[in-house]
Amino acid sequence: MKSDDIKSKDKEFYIQGYTRVPIVLTEGKGALLKDLDGNEYIDCFAGIAVTNVGHAHERLVKAATDQMSKLIHTSGRFFNIPQTLLAEKIAEITPGDLKYSYLCNSGSEAIENAVKLVKKYATSRGKTGAALIALEGSFHGRLGYAFSLTGQSKYKKGFSSYANLQGVVHAPTPYPYRSKLSEEECGEEAALAVENVIDYHTAGDVAAFFIEPILGEGGIIVPPDSYFNTLLGILKERDIPFVSDEVQSGFGRSGRMFAGDHWNLKPDLMTLAKGFGGGMPIGAAVATSKIANCVQPGDFFSTYGGNPVCSAVALENINIIEDEKLVENSAKIGNMFMQGLEDLQRRNTIIGDVRGKGLMIGIELVSDPSTKKPASEEAKKIVNILKNDGVILGLGGILGNVLRLQPPLCITEEQSKTVLDKFEVGLSRL
Ligand SMILES: Cc1ncc(COP(=O)(O)O)c(C=O)c1O
Repeated sequence: MKSDDIKSKDKEFYIQGYTRVPIVLTEGKGALLKDLDGNEYIDCFAGIAVTNVGHAHERLVKAATDQMSKLIHTSGRFFNIPQTLLAEKIAEITPGDLKYSYLCNSGSEAIENAVKLVKKYATSRGKTGAALIALEGSFHGRLGYAFSLTGQSKYKKGFSSYANLQGVVHAPTPYPYRSKLSEEECGEEAALAVENVIDYHTAGDVAAFFIEPILGEGGIIVPPDSYFNTLLGILKERDIPFVSDEVQSGFGRSGRMFAGDHWNLKPDLMTLAKGFGGGMPIGAAVATSKIANCVQPGDFFSTYGGNPVCSAVALENINIIEDEKLVENSAKIGNMFMQGLEDLQRRNTIIGDVRGKGLMIGIELVSDPSTKKPASEEAKKIVNILKNDGVILGLGGILGNVLRLQPPLCITEEQSKTVLDKFEVGLSRL
């Protein structure tokens, strides 16, 4: 079968809800991918920050096949060994008092379960927990409350009230590159604005504040240090639980196990998916005991949540991240990329900003650095040029002009140098 056959069959039988890169991927190894036409790519997007330990890692394959040959499915009605051991491991690696996990199948589901948990926590304390706050420009998923919490209207067109469920409000994002203030002032201002959001857009009964510690889909936006200092004070004073959505930024992506670790964040709840399962569909809402204790047997159920194969792979995935020191590699190669990209920025005015942490890097393209006019068309073109030259990059940003460099954390120095060289050539072709 040829790639064109697959593409036309897909058009015939698959709901065309995706904007696809026009290649049919067939296999991968480490940070390399191959397509059906025999082309090879250095993967700098990791299936949207998922394959953190690399493609087809032998230990992941073994964990999956070993567990599959024993028991594939139990349902949530029974205990199973990998599920419990995975929950224990999550408690070990997550910050602060996070301890209790609820396993599910995706990032959106992790958010949905976090919403249920904070609502239950609110009502158990005699509150309504009617409101939920998230950030403008955020991304938390495309279903249910996750979709409403997502602060980007471009994903919401035509979905009517489904896109804005009652009680969800948004607060400004600290976006230093697009702020007229200094970095610190920008953080401070955005955090203080949360008070206004609570006072003017809710009845004061906020079940939780949701935040990606580094915004992924929104364009790898890193909040200034001042943001979290002020924000956490406000949330504490108002007794509002703080949910850290680490679906994209977790598991070494940012050069720390969790992106919130850069600010020593100790959330009341954390959501996990993507890099959690190394490619298997698994997510989790992880809670402190005060929140988890509100749940009664029967409140939650998922047929597949905590599936033994997904859990066994996720557990092995975390062990690989630790054994192969992939968090450290993410920080090291991330620094190398940042230096190389900043160097390129000095020679190419189209690169307005280079930002990020570890291997969660955003390159914001602008047609004029003084006006910062977004170069969204050029961003699409460069992704295409690089794809044709054997490098897969991500594209995102609130304005659609941010290249996202989020490779598997096992990417080598040599592969990274090749990516930088090809990026420079791509820019000159642009
Ligand atoms: C931060 C964050 N939260 C939640 C989600 C939703 O995850 P999923 O696509 O697995 O539903 C995403 C997906 O990109 C994400 O980046």
